[in-house]
Amino acid sequence: MSLTNAERQSLIDLAIEARRKAYAPYSKYKVGAALRTKSGRIYTGVNIENAAYPHTICAERVAIFKAVSDGEMEFELISVVTDNGGSPCGGCRQVMAEFGLDTIVLIADGQGRLVKEMTVRELLPEAFTPEHLEVDD
Ligand code: THU
Repeated sequence: MSLTNAERQSLIDLAIEARRKAYAPYSKYKVGAALRTKSGRIYTGVNIENAAYPHTICAERVAIFKAVSDGEMEFELISVVTDNGGSPCGGCRQVMAEFGLDTIVLIADGQGRLVKEMTVRELLPEAFTPEHLEVDD
């Protein structure tokens, strides 16, 4: 899939805008994500923390789960914005991998600068995917 710089910037800008609503009173580390499906729909997400810390959910998973709960399971790209251009956590990489290893991941900082662009396949080598469960019995 070929992406234009305008498309990249537009998805990063949507994640920056979404990030304003991040609920991160404990870590203060706000994350925003924007996901574009193959059908052209956009879903955004933010991290939502909880006083019982482990119940926190990451921005990427919120965006992906919003899409899936809407019946959308084929993704083109996802942008992730943090202050310092942080990388998606392992759990989010695994959830991304569930829906396709070719999804493009844009990692950007709080100024909207693209820090890294890679596929889920590159982010999570040797991923465990649904195909691994297709075993003969
Ligand atoms: N966080 C995300 O939203 N996405 C990631 O991929 C990494 C971590 C959130 C979870 C928590 O609210 C905060 O960042 C600090 O870990």
